[in-house]
Amino acid sequence: MTKADVGMIGLAVMGANLARNLERNGFTCAVYNRSNEVTERFMGEQLGKRFIASATLQDFVASIERPRRIFIMIKAGSAVDDIIETLLPILSPGDILIDGGNAYFRDSMRRVERGQRSGIEFLGVGISGGEEGALNGASIMPGGSSEAWERVRPLLEKIAAYAEGPCTTYIGPDGAGHFVKTVHNGIEYADMQLIAEAYDLLRTVGKRRPPELSSLFRRWNEGVLQSFLIEITADIFTQVDEETGGYLVDSILDKAGQKGTGKWTVESSLDLGVAIPTISAAVDARALSAIKDERVEAAEHLRSGDIAQSIEPEKLDALTHDALYCAKIISYAQGMALLARASAEWNWSLRLGDIAAIWKGGCIIRARFLEEIRRAYADNPVLKNLLLAPAIRQELSTRLASLREVVALATRVGIPVPAFSASLSYYDQYRAAALPLNLTQAQRDYFGAHTYERIDRPGSFHTSWIAGNG
Ligand code: 6PG
Repeated sequence: MTKADVGMIGLAVMGANLARNLERNGFTCAVYNRSNEVTERFMGEQLGKRFIASATLQDFVASIERPRRIFIMIKAGSAVDDIIETLLPILSPGDILIDGGNAYFRDSMRRVERGQRSGIEFLGVGISGGEEGALNGASIMPGGSSEAWERVRPLLEKIAAYAEGPCTTYIGPDGAGHFVKTVHNGIEYADMQLIAEAYDLLRTVGKRRPPELSSLFRRWNEGVLQSFLIEITADIFTQVDEETGGYLVDSILDKAGQKGTGKWTVESSLDLGVAIPTISAAVDARALSAIKDERVEAAEHLRSGDIAQSIEPEKLDALTHDALYCAKIISYAQGMALLARASAEWNWSLRLGDIAAIWKGGCIIRARFLEEIRRAYADNPVLKNLLLAPAIRQELSTRLASLREVVALATRVGIPVPAFSASLSYYDQYRAAALPLNLTQAQRDYFGAHTYERIDRPGSFHTSWIAGNG
């Protein structure tokens, strides 16, 4: 009997679409789902195609050519550990497990080790692109041993999106793939929040209605802001609500959910001591959005203290465009800095330019700007911060004034722009040769004898502040 080239555990929408993608690309795919009804339904839709279905994990494993390559596409968390434990005794040395869910990177680190103890390779693979990407080409970020990557590479390169090359590359050992996917999501949160803030200004101050916003975003999508998220936003603004006849966006409750990857990005940034204020602002914005009832009540009591300001709508459109591009660049600089720090911490040797390259297609943050990032790291792989790359500096310098104008305008009229202002503050702090934290050090030394360094000679110093003030 023909054996399968690859196996797929989990036939929910992501797993089913990845299996279809693999089969369409010429691979015979073994499929298994915990509930066999789901497998039967899937097989019913795939008549005549190269799938081998099994009702038990034993039969599923036996149906795959050795050394086996098996995708696990089930809900991230303890279910993944359970399935690994069930599989380990029935697998053979050299088999490879590929977890393509949104796993926590420390879990992937642990699972790589767990696999090694049993002679099994585990790859923690970040996959971005949602259902569509899974079916027609995703951005794929594999972490684990490079030998295991070489053996799954022909599969992953076929099912990945293509942007001047397949949108997949070896990311690094153990949890590197899932970490990079997590940071991708953090950047995704920031992109989405920046777009939401731009929309707020344009609708509130510029009085733009959804159809005008749609045309504006479509225009923006032809220039430096070209990206999947700008493109879908232009579409969203044209969607009519069948129930009210108005625009659907106006009928949607302003409470944003989150599944955890944004939070993980911020948590890791705190652990590693890397500032990512724009991404943090985006995560916080979702938390504040969620307390809708409290906000509605507060709106009754809290005054804005706003300062009236008027601006031509066309001028606001242009300022917002440039501010959005600037704030986006600064947000990506933070994400890349977090990746660089994580790479040093865990010896991952992340190639930041290659990561930017595989984000150019398939994933949610795909954008023209990623080519600029790829080039910046190709020119200088040890670039300290993306903001320092000559071409990026150039992009920013002509537009920074717009970012300042937009943050100032929003502040005056009382529209919250947490991500725009976080980007601007990050930029101003990063370029500050002198910050006021000398005073912070003095305070720390005053109340806690934490000591301080001096600007004129090395060493650590403590002052008896109270005696000096006596
Ligand atoms: C992707 C997406 C996908 C999902 C995230 C974000 O790259 O395909 O990031 O993984 O949309 O889980 O979801 P939340 O906004 O619910 O956290």
